[in-house]
Amino acid sequence: MKILNFGSLNLDYVYDVEHFVRKGETIASREMRIFCGGKGLNQSVALSKAGAPVYHAGLVGQDGGILREMLLSAGVHDELVRCLPDTPTGNAIIQRDATGDNCILLYGGANRMVTKEFVREVLEGFSAGDWLVLQNEISQIPYIVDLAYEKGMTIVLNPSPMDEKIREISLDKIHYFLLNQGEAQSLTGAKGDGTVLADHLHRKFPGASVVLTLGEAGSLYIGQEGTVFQKAYRVPVVDTTAAGDTFTGYFVAEVSAGKPVEQALDMAARASAIAVSRLGAAPSIPERSQVEIWQFSRE
Ligand code: RIB
Repeated sequence: MKILNFGSLNLDYVYDVEHFVRKGETIASREMRIFCGGKGLNQSVALSKAGAPVYHAGLVGQDGGILREMLLSAGVHDELVRCLPDTPTGNAIIQRDATGDNCILLYGGANRMVTKEFVREVLEGFSAGDWLVLQNEISQIPYIVDLAYEKGMTIVLNPSPMDEKIREISLDKIHYFLLNQGEAQSLTGAKGDGTVLADHLHRKFPGASVVLTLGEAGSLYIGQEGTVFQKAYRVPVVDTTAAGDTFTGYFVAEVSAGKPVEQALDMAARASAIAVSRLGAAPSIPERSQVEIWQFSRE
């Protein structure tokens, strides 16, 4: 079994600010740092650090060498990452406020240049029994889903960031949805608490398993195994960037290795809590050995 993550690679420009800049306002930032990021790259790093055999497919520009190095150093196969000579690498302008919270402005760059031809080339190396992980930061997602489904791959969708393009995907071909409450509301049109939303999604897509992340309230799984609730681990918040990506990568690594859902959720919750206590996107993602021994102060 191999895991293909067809996803974005971004350079994250992180600005430390007192508060997020408002309409018409100009503010100074205390510091600016550049990190490796992109929901795709972050999830590949998390998958690999969790122990999964992951192949990342995606596009960068000539300024994207550092992103390939990050993938390689995390043990991710990078042969399916291609460089476009005349297109800049995707990037994100991230404001991090005094509480560690963020807001993100994306520029797709090379991530939006994925073609059907490239998709066919990438998917040639994968077959039934392999897993596919997708987010919503690259072009051609509906085509990738259709081809992977035809091949009999298990398809995981993290519909983030949520926008209208998600509706172009044949969502009945998805086996796992990993998403937050806002994304679930948008997909179902339903309102209510986590249980209501997860239940709506599960009834709308009965063939799929749903993992709903609830922030500080934890996460909720509804699928063949029934309903499982997972608490969140409390940590001092430094930077929430990539917490969700860490959760997704760890959860998928565990379930694709045949581990029980309860264990997958717990590992994902531990790993994402550690990521929240660290700065940056990809660099904040912990190794499996750290997740296994980490002591949380109020478990
Ligand atoms: O989920 C966090 C990621 O979202 C950042 O690394 C940024 O690049 C955006 O894609």
